[in-house]
Amino acid sequence: MSYIPGKPASYWIDSTAKIDDLPSGNVLSVDVAIVGGGLIGITAATLLKRAGKRVAVIEAESIGMGTSGHTTAKITSLHQLIYADLIDKIGEEKARLYAESNEAAIAWIAKMVEEEGIDCDFSRQSAYTFAESEKDLSNVEKEVNAALKLGLPACLVQETSLPFPIAGAVKFDNQAQFHIRKYLLHLAKNIPGDGSYILEGARVEEIEEGEPCTVKSNKGTVQATDVIVATHLPILNEGLFFAKSYPKRSYIVGARIPADRAPQGMFIGAEDKNYYSIRTTPYEGDLLLLVGGEGHKVGEKTDTEECYLNLEAYARDRFGVDSFEYRWSTQDMVSFDRLPYVGKLTPLNHHIYVATGMSLWGMSKGTMAGMLLSDLILGKENPWAELYDSLRATPFLSGTSIKENAGVATHMIGDRLKGLMSSISDVEMGEGKLVTVDGDKVAAYRDETGELHAVSAVCSHLGCIVNWNSAEKSWDCPCHGARFDCDGQILHGPAVKPLESLKGQS
Ligand code: FES
Repeated sequence: MSYIPGKPASYWIDSTAKIDDLPSGNVLSVDVAIVGGGLIGITAATLLKRAGKRVAVIEAESIGMGTSGHTTAKITSLHQLIYADLIDKIGEEKARLYAESNEAAIAWIAKMVEEEGIDCDFSRQSAYTFAESEKDLSNVEKEVNAALKLGLPACLVQETSLPFPIAGAVKFDNQAQFHIRKYLLHLAKNIPGDGSYILEGARVEEIEEGEPCTVKSNKGTVQATDVIVATHLPILNEGLFFAKSYPKRSYIVGARIPADRAPQGMFIGAEDKNYYSIRTTPYEGDLLLLVGGEGHKVGEKTDTEECYLNLEAYARDRFGVDSFEYRWSTQDMVSFDRLPYVGKLTPLNHHIYVATGMSLWGMSKGTMAGMLLSDLILGKENPWAELYDSLRATPFLSGTSIKENAGVATHMIGDRLKGLMSSISDVEMGEGKLVTVDGDKVAAYRDETGELHAVSAVCSHLGCIVNWNSAEKSWDCPCHGARFDCDGQILHGPAVKPLESLKGQS
């Protein structure tokens, strides 16, 4: 049988329609403008509107189609292995706040699903971090002890419903999973009205603090007392969040699996690298097995097709599936201390708030961030505010961050030397290549019809040189994760401008 790859789309997005009948604009003034219609933005908007605020969610594309729409959508406080490390680095009291805030976020999602009757395939599940080798087992055991100390619902198990043997796993009971976009669309539909709005297709290019603040997009200007920037990595550079975290890309494949062969629960490997994330979701009367992994820093891997092939090989080998329905990729900002940044943009900003650095566990932390931002704007005390304070002294200059940012510096300088020996005529059909034309770095892609797509290779964010991503046919920036299609249009921030178009190449 010939090989057919899965459809290149997120199942969450492919199985849901856009919201219709959204008002087209003319929003002049609200209490809170929220830039970014993902889980953080929609959670904050829901809470703020319920508290009587007039909100405007301003989304560059459509609700839940960015990072939120490309997740595995596990809702859990078991973040692979984190609690032993947190206790070690920030102490038991702060680690307990981390645990409590994530459990509170799970409870809030469950409450919303129940209260609103949200049809989003929500189900309670156990979450597992499993060790296949004795080497990783000791880390799993440490995690169980740390989690129990913090009051989390943890235990050590030797067996799971995975169809292969394990050395042991930490299991958290009463966690959950859902269909993220069904959930977000339901909440989003309740936002417009009574002076509140959702604006889609409005790419924000400028935000100015003031009384009121001004948010300028390609669809017009919104004035607001407060602004939340929930654009994954903030599109505003002043807070230097691009230097306090790094972008990590990962991949997911989806295969139909009969219920009697499907694992029950949500799983992730305990390995430091090369681990796999596993869950199922209801799919056309059957189940869809989702396997994620193959993570790497954005822009560091050109042969991204290999990532999908490796995941498919793992799914075939471990679960006996043979055909694949979906494949998609995602990325997240990883903070150096593993804690999200939630709060003010800079110490000088009184009305602009941010949330970023969810470090691959965005369902619980993103919800928590939306809850916390809402409290900050409403002037309510919140016990998690200090832990996640975006202005906290961060390990900006720790060994890890120096290493990661040294990588960025290398890209900023070294990338400029790439491609010097190539010319446009070297670019073959289906190939993306960096070439030099009249001294300019050019990102050139020749499509399957032979047409050349040439854009500037200089990232419009802060000037790094983009790299080709063969599976997604995109130009990805290795510095802070911006991504562009072959014509330079933005696929992913923090860039707010496309790559410069270069006409007349052939
Ligand atoms: Fe910052 Fe490209 S994303 S320079």
